[in-house]
Amino acid sequence: MSSLQLKENIEKAELAIREKRQSVQLGKTRQKYHFMAECGWINDPNGLIYFRGKYHLFYQFNPFGPEWSRMHWGHAVSDNMVDWTYLPIALAPSETYDSHERGGCFSGTALEHEGTLYLLYTGTSKTEEGFVQVQCLAESFDGITFSKYEGNPVLKVTEGYEECDFRDPKIWKHKGRFYLACAAKKSGYAKLLLYRSENLKSWEYISVMAESRGEWGEMWECPDFYSINGMDILTFSPIGAGERTTVYMIGKLDYRTGKFCCLKEGEIDWGFDYYAPQTLEDAQGRRIMFGWAGGWDWMPWWKGRGPSWKEGWSGFFGIPREVRMISEDILQFIPVKELEYLREKELADIPELNLTGDNSFSLPDAGIYELKLTIDLENTSARLCILRLRGNKDYYTDVVLDFENMELTVDRNHSDGWSSDISRSIFYPVNKEKIDIHIFMDQSSVEVFANEYTNVHTCCIYPENNQMSNRVISSGGTVFIKGMKMWSLKNSN
Ligand code: FRU
Repeated sequence: MSSLQLKENIEKAELAIREKRQSVQLGKTRQKYHFMAECGWINDPNGLIYFRGKYHLFYQFNPFGPEWSRMHWGHAVSDNMVDWTYLPIALAPSETYDSHERGGCFSGTALEHEGTLYLLYTGTSKTEEGFVQVQCLAESFDGITFSKYEGNPVLKVTEGYEECDFRDPKIWKHKGRFYLACAAKKSGYAKLLLYRSENLKSWEYISVMAESRGEWGEMWECPDFYSINGMDILTFSPIGAGERTTVYMIGKLDYRTGKFCCLKEGEIDWGFDYYAPQTLEDAQGRRIMFGWAGGWDWMPWWKGRGPSWKEGWSGFFGIPREVRMISEDILQFIPVKELEYLREKELADIPELNLTGDNSFSLPDAGIYELKLTIDLENTSARLCILRLRGNKDYYTDVVLDFENMELTVDRNHSDGWSSDISRSIFYPVNKEKIDIHIFMDQSSVEVFANEYTNVHTCCIYPENNQMSNRVISSGGTVFIKGMKMWSLKNSN
């Protein structure tokens, strides 16, 4: 029954995509170069992997409409992370353990073993007692068509934990064995449970790998785990930790006890729209991250789905970022160099700009662009440097460097008449002499990377096409800019 039902349900979903994609693609809020689904709803990136020479993205997907429901795994591949080819849906709800309108094939990860591509995902179903989450295995020999293991589920919740909150398995290999870390909950606190296996099919519980004692909320969605420069990195998206929705921890996992010891923590992205990031390691050994540029209704700033929803789609991924480490205790998130393929025309190249007092400098009009600048801190006395972007006479989005409070903010209260709130991060200049800012503007988003790529903000905004003005403003003193470049970016979608 299983593979036939899976095939049928994938065909149904593919048909829905064929019916909708043309009209959805006319939507004026569609992104120009960010990864999106052809239509419908997407949330978390899943199963990211560099497999047989290509980057594979899977994603939480409802092909039937722009709302979250009946989770499928969409699938796309790329040679360069800029141009994506959609492949057939990889997983659709088809079994009792992964079928429900408010369930389906939830998030998980991928692993290659002896040439086979394995996916480990959460099956969510509902019984009379409530929702049940279990971990399931699927495999593929060609990297396109997947079959679910007939012995599924391969893992049910460990006794003492809630079966409705046991999800998002992260799998990896270490010294010839498989490990799985899964988000769970006990008495209102987030727990990350660690398991071990010899064959991916039967799993042995080891211990609580890491946990919240209240400070990190009640559930750690979409954990990821990997090593950089000999240190272990644990990342997760906590529910119930206020504005902290993409946490990283640098430390060490003791494989003997199964305990992760955290030495330093930080935030991956302080914007309103970045969640559930996951990574892959590519052939060049780079650790590359994708995250869902969206959010849930429990987030403090939530005010409803944005205008794209009315066009039949919702959700996209932030630009791919390479994760690196500076001096053992701080992570950088650097847009991958392949994004330079998107550069179309150099709009500005200004070696030096000295803005004094309350002054303003106009950059070229543009809507879809990349902007890079460096502020010389030793010759800057201003209180604020404001980048007033995507403006017209009524609206604009402000990216502000507040030198008095050492804060970076993205203010979208005047962005478009719909968006609101100010996202905020504190920075301690990694380099005392200068501060760099790198901005990617697309049709419906702004991504800001500052302070050597350690302060990042991803926010959705919905400017009209006549919002094209871009300015640099100094307030309360001098802003000394040493190098500023701007490029218009191509449409790759
Ligand atoms: C995170 C999440 C995951 C879950 C998935 C369902 O955004 O809530 O925990 O697996 O989305 O779509």
